[in-house]
Amino acid sequence: MSETVTFFDKTFVKYILSDQIDAEITRMAAEISQEYRDNDPIFLITLNGAVFFATELLKQIDIRCRITCVKVSSYSGTESTGSINSLIGLNEDVRGKRILILEDIVDTGRTYIHLHDMLTKAGAKDVRIATMTMKPDAYKADLPVHYVGLRIPDKFVIGHGLDYDGYGRNLNDIYQLRQ
Ligand code: IMP
Repeated sequence: MSETVTFFDKTFVKYILSDQIDAEITRMAAEISQEYRDNDPIFLITLNGAVFFATELLKQIDIRCRITCVKVSSYSGTESTGSINSLIGLNEDVRGKRILILEDIVDTGRTYIHLHDMLTKAGAKDVRIATMTMKPDAYKADLPVHYVGLRIPDKFVIGHGLDYDGYGRNLNDIYQLRQ
């Protein structure tokens, strides 16, 4: 795959290789398997972006569990809109269950707060998050982010599930917006 990719008006430069992402996912899978063994957790995938990360992670988690999906949206282009739209809601009884949200990226934390509130109100016993990437400088929430693959600067990225207006998700490596 080339060193740069262009979608519409923006060019992105190769930034993190898939081998490094894979290694972090393997590390996280071991930690999560250990924490949730014998707890019968529910893994909650946030569509669409987390599908790649979640699939790679869950294939390495060998414990009894259930898997479900929700779809929320907060981004338009390269900017957060500040409000969360629930596009596909929760279709699972979470009462008394341990829930691990699987995200592609934690940016401001608004999506995490939204999901955490929703799951807590629905009766979940415990809600945590595992994210492939996180932008610590952009994070504004008080909730702990329990499992983080890669901490990255506050710059827009695509690839490995992350998109720019729907494009770039299928790039295996992560690319950063060229300024
Ligand atoms: P938050 O609610 O601000 O934490 O943002 C989380 C959501 O914003 C993610 O699930 C992504 O959909 C989107 N997002 C945030 N930063 C990026 C980025 O750099 N590239 C692509 N999507 C992003």
